[in-house]
Amino acid sequence: MKDIIEFILSRQSQPRLSAPAPGDEVLREVFSCALRAPDHALLKPWRYLVVTGKGLQQLGEAFAAAAAHDNPALQESDLDKISSKALRAPMIIVGITCQQEHPKVPVIEQTLSTGAGMAYLLLALEARGFSGIWRTGDMAYHPVVHERLGLGPLESITGFLYVGTAAARKPVQPLPSLDDIVSVWPPRNSH
Ligand SMILES: Cc1cc2nc3c(=O)[nH]c(=O)nc-3n(C[C@H](O)[C@H](O)[C@H](O)COP(=O)(O)O)c2cc1C
Repeated sequence: MKDIIEFILSRQSQPRLSAPAPGDEVLREVFSCALRAPDHALLKPWRYLVVTGKGLQQLGEAFAAAAAHDNPALQESDLDKISSKALRAPMIIVGITCQQEHPKVPVIEQTLSTGAGMAYLLLALEARGFSGIWRTGDMAYHPVVHERLGLGPLESITGFLYVGTAAARKPVQPLPSLDDIVSVWPPRNSH
């Protein structure tokens, strides 16, 4: 078994996904991992929707309705293309941040907590032989999509995780240079 560092270092998002998607047992496991996300004041400011089958078609229709709302001149073929975006994987997990009032926890921290949970989800899915990619785009922020998915007024979509089995694995990309990103503060040569 790979140790966790090796495992994380080899993780890649996989945009080409096909069936099978994870079943209930794996979902329970990976969502349990998501619930381990760091969470300031233990607000649990997240929830997740699991979308498969006909639900994906309905989500695609929500994407098309949102696009048509913004641009009524769109043609049927444009709308078909937009709705087909929800069919790029056999499962979509919608990560939702449920904003809560708290004197010490601004909403950015709540969104970050959802994001951490989603990153754990990606890792846990990979550990069980599945793959995914986190996508957002205009549709994640569109009120028509929110309404169709039943989001409340204080809820927002932090991301869509497209999930399934990698149909083709993207080559592992080189890591950015650590020296460009990590430094000691204050700089060692400062007085
Ligand atoms: C908040 C967020 C939103 C993203 N939205 C998109 C998106 O809409 N479309 C897309 O192709 N990639 C999106 N990405 C990037 C991919 O999830 C992925 O991280 C990127 O392609 C790099 O691949 P890697 O994870 O294998 O390094 C998003 C990532 C994050 C964190």
